[in-house]
Amino acid sequence: MQSFAQLAAQFNQFFDREHFPESPSSLYNPNRYFLQLGGKRIRPVLCLMGNELFEAIHSSSWDAATAIELFHNFSLIHDDIMDKAPLRRGVQTVHEKYGNNTALLAGDVMMIKAYEYLNKVPASSLPSILALFNKTAIEVCEGQQLDMDFENQPHVSLKAYLNMIEKKTSVLLAASLMIGAILGRAGERNQQLLYSFGLKLGLAFQVQDDYLDAFGDPVKFGKQVGGDILADKKTFLLIHALDTADASTRERLLNWQGRQGEFKVKEILSIYQDCHVDQWALELKQQFLEQALTDLDQIAVVSSRKLPLQELADYLIQRQV
Ligand code: IPE
Ligand code: IPE
Ligand code: MG
Ligand code: MG
Ligand code: MG
Repeated sequence: MQSFAQLAAQFNQFFDREHFPESPSSLYNPNRYFLQLGGKRIRPVLCLMGNELFEAIHSSSWDAATAIELFHNFSLIHDDIMDKAPLRRGVQTVHEKYGNNTALLAGDVMMIKAYEYLNKVPASSLPSILALFNKTAIEVCEGQQLDMDFENQPHVSLKAYLNMIEKKTSVLLAASLMIGAILGRAGERNQQLLYSFGLKLGLAFQVQDDYLDAFGDPVKFGKQVGGDILADKKTFLLIHALDTADASTRERLLNWQGRQGEFKVKEILSIYQDCHVDQWALELKQQFLEQALTDLDQIAVVSSRKLPLQELADYLIQRQV
């Protein structure tokens, strides 16, 4: 069994190759620019771990993992347009550097490339993997639309938020694991348990992402800190603050919605702190981590095979990047 670090290093060796032709460089240079920035490679490693939980890694798992990472990178390029994000992985976002139109196309072509890699899996598993991949991609679109719709809704329930983050984020983590499990010839029940583990882990992962967007170290995090606040994103931080603050603080929070201003981030961050959102973040992450580990526990393989996934789960909710 291999650790996250070992699998990520091997995946990078496989992945760091030319995926696109030279010309037109105005289309492909933006993709090269983005891919060489790296990223944590969580999803491809989840795919490899999903396979290795059951059997030695199948050669086509590297292709499936590549498809998943390309799809993820495509979704980030488009996400940054939608979120008007200036920074990603510590540098200018693709649309800031090359313009919105090029960023749209660069993302499109990256997504199509993902399907080319997916098509390399054995014919016997292709139908099920393709169906899962497509279902996931559709859900990501739905989650992303809900995320934007919520920007204009003052009141979003915790339940609605969790449904939104499940779709925009969790399903891809869950599908990555399950595609690996399919290639590792896991049985149906084990596949489902692993998918469910990924869904719960994904919720904890997005909670941490939302936390870092407010309180992360800008240098380590590599994204604009406070970006979610400026965009009026309905994160669990805002939902919790609106639920627990006194009436006048709630009024101040609601007043900032739809407005910009020098003090917006500063004031909202201080309200968050007064509402003890860090404690709430810990509780949410702990709750989802426990649910995830309960699913992992039930998977019918010797428990020593589960260690890398347990370690990865712990890392993902504590990460600062
Ligand atoms: C960012 O994902 C998008 C979210 C779902 C929060 P990652 O944090 O995995 O991004 P990279 O690939 O490591 O940059
Ligand atoms: C993005 O969620 C999820 C997808 C890219 C599908 P966020 O908008 O929170 O991700 P970051 O913070 O920009 O990475
Ligand atoms: Mg974003
Ligand atoms: Mg977004
Ligand atoms: Mg975010």
